[in-house]
Amino acid sequence: MKIKAKIIIFGKNGQIGSNLVKLLKEESNFDIKAYASNDVDFSNLTQLSSFLENLSFYPDFIINAAAYTAVDKAEEEQELADLINHQAVKILADYSKKNNVKLIHYSTDYVFDGLGNEPFTEDNTQNLYPINIYGKTKLLAEKAIINSKAKYIILRISWIYDQEGKNFMNIIAKLAQEREVLTVISDQIGSPTSASFVASSTIKIIKQLLEYQDEFPAGIYHLASNKYMSWYSFAIDIINTLKNDKVNLKVKKIIPIKTCEYKTLAQRPLNSRLNCQKIFNFFKL
Ligand SMILES: NC(=O)c1ccc[n+]([C@@H]2O[C@H](COP(=O)([O-])OP(=O)(O)OC[C@H]3O[C@@H](n4cnc5c(N)ncnc54)[C@H](OP(=O)(O)O)[C@@H]3O)[C@@H](O)[C@H]2O)c1
Repeated sequence: MKIKAKIIIFGKNGQIGSNLVKLLKEESNFDIKAYASNDVDFSNLTQLSSFLENLSFYPDFIINAAAYTAVDKAEEEQELADLINHQAVKILADYSKKNNVKLIHYSTDYVFDGLGNEPFTEDNTQNLYPINIYGKTKLLAEKAIINSKAKYIILRISWIYDQEGKNFMNIIAKLAQEREVLTVISDQIGSPTSASFVASSTIKIIKQLLEYQDEFPAGIYHLASNKYMSWYSFAIDIINTLKNDKVNLKVKKIIPIKTCEYKTLAQRPLNSRLNCQKIFNFFKL
């Protein structure tokens, strides 16, 4: 790849953002600028607009890995979640359209209602009814991006884990060292997906877009690992890995429970399976 692309990353300290920054720094063909919430606060739309207007670095791509990701808290902070996940994204999309920037944005399996057992495809609108505020704000962002007519790629990802950050894998690892008994939900099914896989796939997509001669393949693409499992099965895998790594664990018993036995502020979809054929047909990942 000869073209040198300029990339702006928002959400540089997050699970996906930090992996993007790490991997892109190893590449010689990219100039990157990455920002955290204390550089530009997405809940302050005026600040975000003026930040974009005053950019001295004209990007070819914007990757938006910033989001309000506290799914339960979003039920109590609806306005804030909407500002960060939806309205700020509309500003990014309008900026991208106006300035011919390609926008890469992450969305979620939580845009679906979680009904049925089949993996959801990108063209499924029948189940496109989020059941929590987080999912609703993420769906509104998708619509704002599409309506902006910017050149966009929306990657719907799911169940992200990473060595760093607050995620299921790290929570289970901590609890397994502290408690003898763990109860884990066994009737929500999805695809645990590593943040580094999402970041490296994003970079491969950007490289292919730079070489791409045809019309920009704007669209929604599902991107997740190819294994469907419950949180319970994932917890067992995590604990087995820790045992293999000789980590000192306290846990003796893992009890599967149903979603209805575990009250949370936000409802969560039972079926989070994503059909990822489209992205693998289109891009080499
Ligand atoms: N985690 C998952 O399981 C999952 C699943 C599906 C989709 N996704 C989507 O994937 C994307 C990345 O997720 P992630 O897991 O990497 O998220 P994450 O680790 O929670 O990181 C999100 C980042 O967003 C930034 N942010 C939050 N509020 C902000 C604000 N007001 N202004 C600017 N930045 C703000 C934070 O920046 P600071 O740290 O600088 O405050 C944080 O680093 C998000 O769009 C998320 O919706 C995640």
